[in-house]
Amino acid sequence: MKIMVVGGGGREHAIIKKLKENESVEKIYALPGNGGIAADAECVAVKATDLDGICEFAKANAIDYAVVAPDDPLVLGCVDRLNELGIPCFGPEAKAAIIEGSKVFSKNLCKKYGIPTAQYEVFTDVESALNYLETAPIPTVIKADGLALGKGVIIAETREDAKKAVKEMMEDKVFGKSGDQIVIEEFLTGPEVSVLSFTDGKVVVPMISSMDHKRALDDDKGLNTGGMGTVAPNPYYTKSIADRCMKEIFVPTMNAMNAEGRTFKGCLYFGLMLTPNGPKVIEFNCRFGDPETQVVLPLLKTDLLEVMQAVTNSTLSDVEVEFSEESAACVVMASSGYPQKYETGFEITAEGDVMKDIFVAGARLEDGKLLTGGGRVLGVTALGSCLSCAINNAYEKVNKVHFDNAFYRKDIGKRALQAQKGND
Ligand code: AMP
Ligand code: GLY
Repeated sequence: MKIMVVGGGGREHAIIKKLKENESVEKIYALPGNGGIAADAECVAVKATDLDGICEFAKANAIDYAVVAPDDPLVLGCVDRLNELGIPCFGPEAKAAIIEGSKVFSKNLCKKYGIPTAQYEVFTDVESALNYLETAPIPTVIKADGLALGKGVIIAETREDAKKAVKEMMEDKVFGKSGDQIVIEEFLTGPEVSVLSFTDGKVVVPMISSMDHKRALDDDKGLNTGGMGTVAPNPYYTKSIADRCMKEIFVPTMNAMNAEGRTFKGCLYFGLMLTPNGPKVIEFNCRFGDPETQVVLPLLKTDLLEVMQAVTNSTLSDVEVEFSEESAACVVMASSGYPQKYETGFEITAEGDVMKDIFVAGARLEDGKLLTGGGRVLGVTALGSCLSCAINNAYEKVNKVHFDNAFYRKDIGKRALQAQKGND
């Protein structure tokens, strides 16, 4: 089989490495991939948002199956376009990807179908939003409606900050059209859990839970990033919470999308907060999370291609999706200065066979050398028989990866370990 994976980050690298385990896979193309992915797939210089380019390539190369991984091509309708060409895909159609593409849509969906989430109001004009903020409880959370490269959520600690955020989104258009509508919602507290799930619209199969680390610096300080590391499973996500989420959130969301005529097929990501009043949805994503995928897929025992095809064919209930009993940790190594200004172009080297456990996010090949090429450069994943074993193994490997200006958090999994102690 010839497979095409759309995207070019650490998540796509993890998907590609896993797909390669299937013997019927002869060839994988990554569009655009990156210098590190090039070790595992043929990278083709077509941007993930260039739907015409993607379709042309797929047709010209007789692609048998496509995996569309990032949010923007999904929201733009990449799967719809490929399906029109008769190419089966993993990923939702645009009408279902809207669950991530529009926060107004997803919040209204929750309200209509009784899916627990933060209370909210939607605003389409600045005056009403500013008026509302005069008396809104503080802290408050301001969200741009559309995709905003993961930056469209502002937690405002003061009324002034909240007003500033609203003006930036709605007047200055810092997120472009994504800020035409905004959601202002209740500030929730509690541990966060990421649950990725496979769903074909008939059943929803949660994957192993995970915990992201979004802030740039240790002890959850510094700016928000795309994710500095992950661990799986997430110890806050106990069996009884998982059962409750299945009943109150996962199945109702799948059913709600069906009822709206927007059947979701692909990976539906539930960003949850375990509040004192029970688990609530913080966000939905229409795709695998990054860097959650880098800990979740290495623990998947069932063949990934088989699961993906079952999702496409609406036969997911026939597949037993199994995860290892082990734990996993991923430490992201970034360029110093990320998520603000940083330099790139430094050579990446890895001792021994550590490269095989690395998922490359931002790097390019030049004269056979792998050079840093992004803010987040790579993720180092390790498994272990316990969470602390996996974390120790990951940091041991991090010590064997070298590039100038490397920067990473030293406390990935620390909170998870504390939670685990609390559970014992
Ligand atoms: P998102 O981009 O939707 O994942 O939001 C980024 C982060 O903002 C989440 O991971 C949460 O930590 C935080 N966040 C989002 N919504 C809320 C909320 N209603 N209350 C508290 N924190 C939130
Ligand atoms: N790690 C969070 C996300 O992929 O959106």
